[in-house]
Amino acid sequence: MIQLRNVQKSYSRGGHTVLACAVDRLDIQAGEQVALIGRSGTGKTTLLHILAGILRPDQGEVTVVGQRLDRLGEAARDRHRGQHIGMVYQTFNLLQPFTALENVLLGALFGRGAGGDARARAEALLQQVGLGERMQHRPSELSVGQVQRVAICRALINDPELILMDEPLGNQDRATGGQVLDVLLELAARGGKTVVMVTHDPESATRMQRTVDLATLRPSLELASGGRS
Ligand SMILES: Nc1ncnc2c1ncn2[C@@H]1O[C@H](COP(=O)(O)OP(=O)(O)OP(=O)(O)O)[C@@H](O)[C@H]1O
Ligand SMILES: [Mg+2]
Repeated sequence: MIQLRNVQKSYSRGGHTVLACAVDRLDIQAGEQVALIGRSGTGKTTLLHILAGILRPDQGEVTVVGQRLDRLGEAARDRHRGQHIGMVYQTFNLLQPFTALENVLLGALFGRGAGGDARARAEALLQQVGLGERMQHRPSELSVGQVQRVAICRALINDPELILMDEPLGNQDRATGGQVLDVLLELAARGGKTVVMVTHDPESATRMQRTVDLATLRPSLELASGGRS
């Protein structure tokens, strides 16, 4: 489902180069549920964005759902993401003028469509994460944890094979977070879906089948410190 080889992504800052993400090798099989951990600033978000095709690495091979993303242009990567991937952004990225229900439905516009009635599916998802009474609220009328749950529903609306989530439970209380994770993992298990979830919460990580620490994927200290540039 996911294969990375010698991947690096850097940013130029004031004349020197910051290595944002470096992965020597990473393999994730179809149907696996993986927790991605690592300290702040080690490149977890950058890696998810590479997997989603939002960012292209400077070097290396990235195969995701059968496509070499490093060889595709931006439009083709966007199409690939719409068809195969559901993404929960660390910053949610909901559209402010639209209601919770509309935000979830907007996800269906860019996707392959999961078949059946998208609206009924969106409503069912919002119900499942406890937002049945909040569907007509705009993001500004929701709590941060509620906005986060809307973003999770938007990621699931197209029934994607691969679900990428950047700390999707970071603003939930323990009980709600546990319930949302139950919903997610049940949907994922039922559909044989692959899940990669960034988390700082050890309890959430233990619910996943495998934990990958980004620090262990870095090829060498010299490269990790950006020493080459
Ligand atoms: N657009 C950018 N320009 C320059 N540097 C960047 C940019 N985006 C990220 N970085 C740097 O790349 C590194 C990795 O960032 P990233 O957001 O992937 O970390 P993270 O592991 O997700 O951190 P956190 O746990 O805080 O979310 C950081 O040192 C960051 O400062
Ligand atoms: Mg991050």
